[in-house]
Amino acid sequence: MTRDDDLELWNEQWDLSPGVTYLNHGSFGPPPKPVQTARRVWQDRLYRQPMDFFMRKYEEAWFQSRRSLAEFVGADERNLAFVENATAAMNVVADSFPLRPGDEVVLTDHEYGAVRRIWARAAKRAGAAEPRVARLPLPIESTDQVLDAIFAATTDRTRLLVVSHITSPTAITLPVQQIVAQAHSRGIAVCLDGPHVPAQLPLDLESLECDFYCASCHKWLCAPFGSGFLYVAPQYDGQIQPPLLSWGRLPENSVQTWSDEFIWSGTRDPTAYLTVPVAIAFLRDVGLERFRDRTHQLAKYARHRLVDLTGNEPIVTDSSEWYGSMAQVPLPSGDAAMLQRQLWTEHAIEVPIITWDDRRWIRVSCHLYNTHKDIDLLVDALRRLL
Ligand SMILES: Cc1ncc(COP(=O)(O)O)c(C=O)c1O
Repeated sequence: MTRDDDLELWNEQWDLSPGVTYLNHGSFGPPPKPVQTARRVWQDRLYRQPMDFFMRKYEEAWFQSRRSLAEFVGADERNLAFVENATAAMNVVADSFPLRPGDEVVLTDHEYGAVRRIWARAAKRAGAAEPRVARLPLPIESTDQVLDAIFAATTDRTRLLVVSHITSPTAITLPVQQIVAQAHSRGIAVCLDGPHVPAQLPLDLESLECDFYCASCHKWLCAPFGSGFLYVAPQYDGQIQPPLLSWGRLPENSVQTWSDEFIWSGTRDPTAYLTVPVAIAFLRDVGLERFRDRTHQLAKYARHRLVDLTGNEPIVTDSSEWYGSMAQVPLPSGDAAMLQRQLWTEHAIEVPIITWDDRRWIRVSCHLYNTHKDIDLLVDALRRLL
């Protein structure tokens, strides 16, 4: 039996294009077949009898789905609303957080590019200072180093910290519990950007005690594309601005809380949200610990093989405290876009190659459908192309 045999049954649950080595679940995570089927069942109900779906079934299904998600992410369901993705959630926070002229927002230099744009616009609109950027140390060796770097960038005018739970360009897990505690002790609110977290890491939002949490369910959790959530701590109820003001709830029901505003925001296909419980059940069937262990071991294997190939050291130590199902390794300098293109056109490998901090990096995502062979193919291709 090879190292991958025992997970073969789970691999078969995806119908990825044959011949493609897909190592970019972190950007776009395809849902497994049972999730696709469950979504189609909801869509069939919607298309066959829209009146029945929207007027009689939808709200209750939305609440049930949210209950299942709330239990999965350790939140009181009243503090959660479905949104299409983490980007939508972050926009809601930026439109709602009470920034005043002179206030400051602090982000780290590992934040996702679109998130930086969202906060630059929000700060400008509010007449606040341009967001400050905390530069984290490279390499990162300890939690204290991260905390020192972040809080060295804050001032007495800092109102909000925006920090990734797992970073996008560098795939590292930041010590968010300690960040939130220290920020709160200084009177600073925290918005965590966590689209890579649901499923990849255990999440307990109520004990994390952040002010806002933005996430996508269509990455590691494998729910349909167009499913994500926003968590808002109860003290902000009344301040949240829905991006699309509509009925909120279907008449005869009236809007009671901020999250009600997100149930009905005009006619559209909301079935991705209703399918989230099936994605949770799918990964629970695999076993969440087993899933995390398997994908971390694969990411670790990718990291070791890439370090052997390039001689370059990653920016965090080799520990599951610092990375989960994605491995990020610096590459020799060169054209990132061209290398990514060549990996695809010449080797049918999908993997992001990025430029960050003036260096070229590779980020390898490992999900249940990936095998050691995928990593070996990548390393062979890179050996030829680098
Ligand atoms: C850290 C981080 N934030 C936000 C996003 C945006 O996620 P989405 O496209 O699902 O809105 C991403 C996407 O990869 C990300 O990595």
